[in-house]
Amino acid sequence: MGIKQVLRMGNASLASPAMRVQEFSANVLNNIIDDMADTMQEEGGVGIAAPQIGFHLRIIMFGFEANARYPDEEAIPFTVLINPTIEILSNELIEGWEGCLSVPGMRGLVPRYHRIRYRGQDPHGLTIERTVEGFHARVVQHEYDHLDGILYPERIQNLKNFGFEEELRSRIWPTKESI
Ligand code: NI
Repeated sequence: MGIKQVLRMGNASLASPAMRVQEFSANVLNNIIDDMADTMQEEGGVGIAAPQIGFHLRIIMFGFEANARYPDEEAIPFTVLINPTIEILSNELIEGWEGCLSVPGMRGLVPRYHRIRYRGQDPHGLTIERTVEGFHARVVQHEYDHLDGILYPERIQNLKNFGFEEELRSRIWPTKESI
């Protein structure tokens, strides 16, 4: 229970599809979700997927009020989604800088759909359905990709737009001197 080690890119567990959650057995599920929340908070992430801490299940979590890793973005309500699905509502792709707890210290420019509808179940088995856009849509697409064994560097179209966060600082946050 508690903070887990986040698996890093190259670990085989991050590269294969996760299994659907079949049973909403409160104890098992709650322990996994608690570990995800503790780890996400400890690492300062805006989202995390169960496979990142070694649980090969289709569970994602995201949300923040304010986050040092993404200082310019609007808040996203804290959400746990089990067996999520995504429907693309606009074919418009927007590029934005992403990082990932499994790819520490790096950032990349990743195209994501601007507007999506996502559905899934909360830990009590109740359905969550939301239509979102922008950064909220980006975060959900990023976390969802983890469930299919995809990490964001695989989505980068030009690898010149991938590198160490410290080196890319002036491109990611052109108006900020430091954060
Ligand atoms: Ni990630």
